[in-house]
Amino acid sequence: MAKKLDRLELAKKLGANFDYQQAVIGCHDKYRTVRKARQIGMTTALGIESLLDAFMQDDYVICIISPTSRQSLRMMRYIKKAFRRFEKLTGSMIPTEKFTSEEIVFHHGSEIHSLPNNPAGIQGIDCNHAIIDEAGLFGQREGEDIIDAVVGSLSAKKGRLTISGKPKGKRGLLWQYWDTSSDRYKEFTHFTVTWKDRARQDKDYEKEVITHKRILSATQFEETYNAEFIDEGVLIFPHDILDASIALWKTNGFVVMPFEGNPESGRTYVGVDFGRKRDLTEIHVLKQEGKILRTLMMKSLVKMNFEDQKDVIDRMMTRVRPVRMVIDERGLGLALLDYFQKKYGESRVQPMKMSEQRSKERLILQCRNCITDLQLALPPNDELHEQMHSFQKEYTDHGNVRYFGKVDETDFMDDKVIALVAAVEAAQSKPFGFTIM
Ligand SMILES: Nc1ncnc2c1ncn2[C@@H]1O[C@H](COP(=O)(O)OP(=O)(O)O)[C@@H](O)[C@H]1O
Ligand SMILES: [Mg+2]
Repeated sequence: MAKKLDRLELAKKLGANFDYQQAVIGCHDKYRTVRKARQIGMTTALGIESLLDAFMQDDYVICIISPTSRQSLRMMRYIKKAFRRFEKLTGSMIPTEKFTSEEIVFHHGSEIHSLPNNPAGIQGIDCNHAIIDEAGLFGQREGEDIIDAVVGSLSAKKGRLTISGKPKGKRGLLWQYWDTSSDRYKEFTHFTVTWKDRARQDKDYEKEVITHKRILSATQFEETYNAEFIDEGVLIFPHDILDASIALWKTNGFVVMPFEGNPESGRTYVGVDFGRKRDLTEIHVLKQEGKILRTLMMKSLVKMNFEDQKDVIDRMMTRVRPVRMVIDERGLGLALLDYFQKKYGESRVQPMKMSEQRSKERLILQCRNCITDLQLALPPNDELHEQMHSFQKEYTDHGNVRYFGKVDETDFMDDKVIALVAAVEAAQSKPFGFTIM
């Protein structure tokens, strides 16, 4: 008992002093899982716990697995920071045989390994405790591969397993341990840490979350800060779909060009969402590359007057020479449409009718289909990703479907999605008349 107390006291001194950090570190159950809000200090807590366990026991081997090497390096940085603090605290040097950015091997036989998603690397280590951090980011398939490898590496020593992360829909590795109907659920001790748990003990964090809340949709807030596994059924662009589109982007090695740049020739398409309520116009440029449409450029015109916006778009038309530009005609978009149709002709510049739900549905589903058919490669842009993920459908009392985006205090924040949807329409729609491109 005295030893356990010491361990918690030390953890506190090393920087894990929030009550939930203490609760997780104080739990000695064999199988633990944590679902947590963003930036709650769980990686920190698990790092400190690992250091203490490796230090206080002989020949104790810990494996920490993260989805990317960036995250596993970060975990090791946390551990090293705690290591230095620990030395300072005890006024002694802890002898190690290896001390790198991937592993610490102690003189007394204990080891800490921080590994990226790499089943083969895990299999080679017999460990006493495996920790999977950011488990929400592992998809079903790679999650299974990791679990297979981990179970193998734990079997010799009948080791512990901890699975922690931020929920990402009712899917993937983390969900399997939280789905009450799964067998895995029953074997684990569960911890839930929401933003309020930290906010109670940290006023700066509370302020930050309240600011962030204004720009998140309700569902997104539930997921990010209340650690809820949200039902993605109402979403048009759930994570799976967006991830596929980004994977397509990455495997092709695409880049977003600077907006002022001069694109090499090719078939390009432009979509414009002209600022309606907010002073913000979004432009999305797609380029056809073989069978794939990919983002070539994105630009936000913030608080720019009408004439200047016209100039920017005009210059872009000259440089990019798109096959077609589609403009959301709502609000002032109509004036813009009028100007550009006169200048470039009605076949090259076309309106997009979003005010009618039927055509809005067609346009949005067209964009979605493009992604599910693996024809649209989108860049890993957080804002675009967030806005798309927040896009929802709702059934009205009359049985009609209504589509809407992320809600903030004054407006639906769907500008980037609408510009993209317009660009896809520009690429997919058949030109009027007999214009030969
Ligand atoms: N007990 C604590 N007191 C103050 N700051 C903390 C504490 N624990 C963690 N932090 C800080 O909070 C931030 C998020 O911590 P991290 O462990 O990366 O969170 P998570 O893994 O939950 O996203 C980091 O800047 C970290 O240094
Ligand atoms: Mg973390």
